[in-house]
Amino acid sequence: MASGKGKSPVNTPPPEAKEVYDQAGKLFEENKFDEAIALYSQAIDKYPEYSSAYFNRALSYALQSQYEKATNDAMKVMDLEPNAPDAPYVMGVISEYQNDLPGAQEWYEKSLKNNPNYTQAKDRLKMLKEKMKGEKPGGRLKTAEGADGTQTVVEEGQIKKVAWFTSDMTFKDVIGMEKQKQIIHDNIVLAITKPELLRAYGKKLGLGAIFYGPPGTGKTYLVRAISGETKAKFIIMHINEIVDMYAGNTEKNLHAIFEQARKNAPCIVFADEIDALGSKREGEQQGNMRMAVNQFLQELDGVEKNPEGIFVIGATNQPWDMDPALKRPGRFGESIYLPAPKYRDRRDMFRYNTRKMPLSKFISFGRLARATWGFSGADIFDICDKAALKVAAEEDRTGRKRTIGMKDFMAIIKASGSSLDEWYGMVKKDVISKTETQIVEGKKQEIVKEGRLSPEEKQKYKPMIKDIKKNLNPVNVFVKKFMRFWAIYLF
Ligand SMILES: Nc1ncnc2c1ncn2[C@@H]1O[C@H](COP(=O)(O)OP(=O)(O)O)[C@@H](O)[C@H]1O
Ligand SMILES: [Mg+2]
Repeated sequence: MASGKGKSPVNTPPPEAKEVYDQAGKLFEENKFDEAIALYSQAIDKYPEYSSAYFNRALSYALQSQYEKATNDAMKVMDLEPNAPDAPYVMGVISEYQNDLPGAQEWYEKSLKNNPNYTQAKDRLKMLKEKMKGEKPGGRLKTAEGADGTQTVVEEGQIKKVAWFTSDMTFKDVIGMEKQKQIIHDNIVLAITKPELLRAYGKKLGLGAIFYGPPGTGKTYLVRAISGETKAKFIIMHINEIVDMYAGNTEKNLHAIFEQARKNAPCIVFADEIDALGSKREGEQQGNMRMAVNQFLQELDGVEKNPEGIFVIGATNQPWDMDPALKRPGRFGESIYLPAPKYRDRRDMFRYNTRKMPLSKFISFGRLARATWGFSGADIFDICDKAALKVAAEEDRTGRKRTIGMKDFMAIIKASGSSLDEWYGMVKKDVISKTETQIVEGKKQEIVKEGRLSPEEKQKYKPMIKDIKKNLNPVNVFVKKFMRFWAIYLF
């Protein structure tokens, strides 16, 4: 646990437990996370109150992306030492990796309340705030009824919390995607910053766009960059949060958002996870969903009739799950595909994400890019962050300062893998027709199951479907694994 802060009297492990614990720390330094976890567990068996062992096991789990186990251990630390800064600190880290940035901030602040000199929490909070600068609240939404949008307890008839954001990010922060950035510049950025230029050419000002692509490829990130480029405010509406179990509330929520947008033009209404609107997965709430979709369409019509300054951008990982009415051509202007990063982009992402880190002189960004063949931008961000976390945790334990080296990055790459590998498997049934063997009356039968996509959808989302198929192709899977293996273990 962090040196230099008060240890509570409970935490005095017997020597035989301490010995195993120290061995675990050495294994952690050698990047042998599984073995370290096994020894931390042994130390805990020998001394069930061993909060430092729980703490370090939580960190090891977090580095391996096993967040549920990491959380359990952090909770245990919280039980054993309720006033120590460690547990809230590691909870902050876990929240960050699960993309809950405001949650992470609360945890780090709690950690610092318990010990204002806890440097690790201080450093992470500083970095977090930097990261959140890309998305800072620019005021709360006041609903038509005058209710304060900051309200978090939602009762029947209330409007949910929605906040405005502004961003300091620009297109320079978005690695690669040059073609996409150009399209967005011509269709959205110009329409916001120089509407008179487009008007002079008789161009209709755009409605917005749909960003689609695998998870973690920068859809949300890109919206922040558009906001920064244009200085326009944006509302993030997470469809899942807007949809309300009470009949009528979802429509009210939607209407309030567009009402606010009209008052704040030019601005961007960002509908994240737009496939959740009208989703077939909702089952019982179909009726409610139908009305919500209708309301949304009505709002879009309003924007279409008077497009001055409101841009509606939708994002989805599964565009084919979108409600058919939303998919109709022209509804959203351009559909823009954001693919997983190519070699050069991955290399530049490693450079970008580590630009403020103390790196060893012997970093090969090319090799890092090859070792992460088929990883997403979000994966690469996490790898860089975890490598830094790992070295910081070591310094905390040993007191020795050092730079972050190739071995650290490789250890994290090996431990977490690509989030996309699994995702491609998950969407397989949606995009690919396949034969299934079924037993009918004791006999085996081959049955062809169609993918869920219509021919039009196949055409419309062609680049993404092509990428998914490519990534499921056994030859490609082999090449991808081989390239990674080669880069991780050999060169
Ligand atoms: N093109 C990119 N350039 C730089 N960073 C990126 C890029 N794409 C993704 N990232 C990183 O991945 C993180 C997650 O991306 P995000 O926009 O949330 O993905 P999505 O919304 O597509 O699921 C971003 O915060 C950023 O750190
Ligand atoms: Mg997103």
